[in-house]
Amino acid sequence: MTGPRAVLVGSMGAGKTTVGRLVAARLGVGFADTDAIVEERTGKSVQDIFVEDGEAAFRALERAVVAEALASYDGVLSLGGGAVLDPATRALLAAHPVVFLRVGLADAVKRVGLGTGRPLLLGNVRARVKQLLDERTPVYQGVARFTVDTDGREPAEITAEIVASLEGEPA
Ligand code: S3P
Repeated sequence: MTGPRAVLVGSMGAGKTTVGRLVAARLGVGFADTDAIVEERTGKSVQDIFVEDGEAAFRALERAVVAEALASYDGVLSLGGGAVLDPATRALLAAHPVVFLRVGLADAVKRVGLGTGRPLLLGNVRARVKQLLDERTPVYQGVARFTVDTDGREPAEITAEIVASLEGEPA
């Protein structure tokens, strides 16, 4: 099958970018992040797209970027935290080795800090993260082939677990 060697999903603060880079390095492949691709294409930050064009415009860009990357990118791909809310994206993900990085409220809040640069966390960061985790955790679980807990764990340990799980997969 063509497409990414692994697709990382999970909440903001799950460590998708940090761990994704490490998994890619271990596999000797590239790393890409759909937020970064959207930013490159538009020449705008995700935050500016939300503020100037609205969330719906961001989601449309994200949907297109995710579909393209799933079809053609052969490294490790990390999806923005809300990408899995799109039903068409979820349908595409069924054919890929999706890894859900699970994070609980306390660690997610610690990792996102004040939420600067993350438009969906404006206001009460803890309350927003809790709401998003409650709404989305079942969705992440539904698309995942593997679930890896990240609470209280170092990126290197999480990476080793992901690589071991991927190695058990048929090529
Ligand atoms: C979002 C997560 C962000 C980014 C945007 C919306 C979300 O990505 O796509 O701010 O809906 O959870 P990260 O999960 O990479 O921070």
